[in-house]
Amino acid sequence: MDELERLDDLRARHGPIFQRRPGVLYVAEPAEAKAVLANTGSRYREHSDFFHTGKGIFGPRAAQQEVGRVARNLLRDHWNGQSDRLAATVAREVGPESRWPDTGNVLLYKCFREVLVPEGGLRGLVDQVVRHAVLAGARDRRSVLSRALLRGRVRRALVAELSRRRTGDGRATADLLDVLAAAVPDGPAHPVLVRLAEVYLSFLFAVAGSTGFLLGWSVYLLGTAPPAGGDLSGVVREALRLRPVAWNFGRSPAEPHRLAGTEVTTSDEVVVCSYLVHRDDRFWPEPDRFLPERWSAGVPEGGAEAFIPFGWGTHACVAAGFAVQVVEDVLRVLPPAGRWRVEAHRQRPHVAAALAPPDFTLRTNGARTGRRR
Ligand code: HEM
Repeated sequence: MDELERLDDLRARHGPIFQRRPGVLYVAEPAEAKAVLANTGSRYREHSDFFHTGKGIFGPRAAQQEVGRVARNLLRDHWNGQSDRLAATVAREVGPESRWPDTGNVLLYKCFREVLVPEGGLRGLVDQVVRHAVLAGARDRRSVLSRALLRGRVRRALVAELSRRRTGDGRATADLLDVLAAAVPDGPAHPVLVRLAEVYLSFLFAVAGSTGFLLGWSVYLLGTAPPAGGDLSGVVREALRLRPVAWNFGRSPAEPHRLAGTEVTTSDEVVVCSYLVHRDDRFWPEPDRFLPERWSAGVPEGGAEAFIPFGWGTHACVAAGFAVQVVEDVLRVLPPAGRWRVEAHRQRPHVAAALAPPDFTLRTNGARTGRRR
């Protein structure tokens, strides 16, 4: 039984709010999940995973919002500026036969690399982070020690680069490091730089990891369970519902309280589980089926109540619409799904911090066996 099957089982036996292990409470009830994420009644410490680094929270809140917005705009402008080259890039990276989900991560990393990291030594290190920490199953591909060493090296290199840029020469914002450097314009403060280096890695994971996995899920589901109807926008939304890449979000209670009748203490962790929220059959008929046609007339009735792939409330993803656009744009320039053959090499998803599709091979130049789109 993998983690998702275990969660399905716990929910079936204990209802939508249950203890995963001592001190860890899972929330699958849609209204309660949203109330936790929106921090209704200020019962939780205010943070999102994104700015919550191993070295403390990067803040204040206004700086978080500014960094998120400016980074999103930088990425979006870059993406829109290369739309005429996208088909050629996708053809080169995907080719007639490709291994996924890695292809989706590497493709998106390459599309954005220019605005993520400058050419040179730092780029070599960030390339390694993508290979050894972002790709699905990366943890199994390298030892704990070598991953820790790589993380240390990249963190030091990022701190040095951010510090150099902070001394500033008034140049325009050219890449993500400029965006982050501009967030702390005054005086050297090493701990802040270390947090910023971690925030940099959050962005790298969001672009190459989360968005790459969403692309991977869309291709996998379209290739293995061809829909009866619906357009690409329905495909991506349904992939987000059925297989939410961000499948759980942890929160720390700021005060003891009751959650749907269950006692919560300040030493507990409360985990909102989008994977389970999206399987609530009061809102999603046939919740385990991939049915992009649900979305044909926009958000399905009741669906908005139980759809949180990008979080909810003030900390919801600043790039939600953009990430969906990126994936739709790539799907649009791939050969038509009727010519795909998807061969899965394992049946179950990769379950880690992100939910990634099973390993599979995509062949884009043959007739598909089974149902066609
Ligand atoms: C499919 C791709 C993506 C998914 C599934 C995703 C998901 C999420 C989720 C669930 C949160 C809320 C986390 C929480 O409440 O703890 C979040 C926050 C955030 N995401 Fe994304 N994200 C994606 C892509 C991106 C991209 C490409 C960017 C780049 C700009 C980005 C930037 C952010 C930022 C800055 C926040 C923090 C928002 C805040 O606290 O103000 N995300 N994302």
